[in-house]
Amino acid sequence: MAETTTPKKLNGKVAIVTGAASGIGAVTARHFAEQGALAVVIADVQDSKGRELASSIGTNRCTYIHCDVTDEEQVRSLVDSTVHLYGRLDIMFSNAGIVSGSHQTVLDLDLKLYDRVMAVNSRGMAACVKHAARVMIEGQVRGSIVCTASLTAESGTEFATDYTMSKHAVLGLVRSASKQLAARGVRVNCVSPGSVLTPLLCDMLKVGMEDLGKMIAPMYARSGNGMLTEKHVADAVVFLASEEAEFVTGHNLVVDGGVNPL
Ligand SMILES: NC(=O)c1ccc[n+]([C@@H]2O[C@H](COP(=O)([O-])OP(=O)(O)OC[C@H]3O[C@@H](n4cnc5c(N)ncnc54)[C@H](O)[C@@H]3O)[C@@H](O)[C@H]2O)c1
Repeated sequence: MAETTTPKKLNGKVAIVTGAASGIGAVTARHFAEQGALAVVIADVQDSKGRELASSIGTNRCTYIHCDVTDEEQVRSLVDSTVHLYGRLDIMFSNAGIVSGSHQTVLDLDLKLYDRVMAVNSRGMAACVKHAARVMIEGQVRGSIVCTASLTAESGTEFATDYTMSKHAVLGLVRSASKQLAARGVRVNCVSPGSVLTPLLCDMLKVGMEDLGKMIAPMYARSGNGMLTEKHVADAVVFLASEEAEFVTGHNLVVDGGVNPL
């Protein structure tokens, strides 16, 4: 009997993943490579973790580039270096994000922390979409841009006002950019994960990884599919990035197993 192999979904694609040194970004970068990507550029501010990941994926097709997404020049340079190194850009996964590390209810909103969260989560996301779209259009690439939003993008929260606002802005960006870029063949979508065990969620809830696991396990006991992991989110991102989603743009793909704490 002839051997059958499952076709890889991202064969030959060149991708950038921001916030790729940790959590959802790291797992997605690896998954892009497993799905046949020709090259994956890991962008982050955590240099040693980013470099380690790049060499574990393989320096023949994975490079780490330091990029603070709050600095537009660094984003421009990230995108231009990718095109210089690999000839094109097919996929931008704009995923870098932070929380303020303070409760941030509206009555005690620290506006310096607010500015920082908005600078990374909203302004940084806009810079990544802008520069990725620019080189995709210049290179006549029918590219795919995927942003990481959140369940908080469409719901109010008891705390983390700044984070919630920053993720609402991501939806506005995706919906506007998708309309503006449709005629040029560039798609723009986002994923909205439920709670995933990562350093960011530990920072938000002010607990260590072990306690966070105990905290969210009862919620996922209701899902029938176990806990939500980075890999579930990565699968959704691969779908949006791939040609299987050729006619999907302006969409917010919620990945929460039907268990939404908000
Ligand atoms: N973990 C969750 O439950 C959850 C749920 C919904 C959405 N998200 C979103 O997922 C994305 C990834 O977060 P995660 O949970 O994997 O957390 P994480 O902390 O593991 O990863 C975030 C990464 O972003 C990087 N980063 C932070 N500031 C940066 C900057 N200025 N420039 C470049 N990189 C920067 C960090 O160094 C880190 O590697 C974020 O946008 C977050 O808001 C997470």
